[in-house]
Amino acid sequence: MVIDNKKRLAVFCSGTGSNFRALFYAIIERGLQAEIVLCLSNRSQCGAIEFAKEQKMETIHLSEKQFDSSGNYAGAMLKALQDHRIDFVLLCGYLRKVPDAVVAAYPERIVNIHPALLPQFGGEGMYGINVHRAVIDSGETVSGATVHMVNEEYDKGRIVMRRKVPVLKSDTPEILAARVLECEHTLYPDALEKLLDEHP
Ligand code: GRF
Repeated sequence: MVIDNKKRLAVFCSGTGSNFRALFYAIIERGLQAEIVLCLSNRSQCGAIEFAKEQKMETIHLSEKQFDSSGNYAGAMLKALQDHRIDFVLLCGYLRKVPDAVVAAYPERIVNIHPALLPQFGGEGMYGINVHRAVIDSGETVSGATVHMVNEEYDKGRIVMRRKVPVLKSDTPEILAARVLECEHTLYPDALEKLLDEHP
């Protein structure tokens, strides 16, 4: 009898989903005991949703606007995770706050990647190009990316793994963003592998 011990993963995305793709292929190439079974997005169409559909993966469009109360919105998100028997949620460029009720129901089970070295350059408003602009403006010579657990506060959960990249004198926020994103594509799979080792 073959026992399938694979962790069931959901990705939450709002955009391109390049980290989602990197995770998807790394799971296959590294033979990780995990499978992405659900792609949830607050947008009905985006690169991530397209990729999930190409892979014949289940997709869900879930936006606060579809609900008359934040409680019902959180309830629908919880139900989606429970219906799909999700073990871990991986946020991949998800530009919405995960409702507190969902975070409370999945303690140490929701993971995010942030394009800077937390605890610096995190918090509300610190997303996308804003982060890289702030790093360059501060004169830092090193930036990087951080994979961390999600708790009720923006970018404040336990750090799982960080990786550094240099900030060059000639960098624009866009050039730095591209260097950090490339680093994210190996950091996120490495961090996932670590989490899977911690939860055999
Ligand atoms: C990444 O820079 C990540 O750190 C941040 O959002 C961006 C997502 O990019 N949370 P992508 O959608 O995975 O390409």
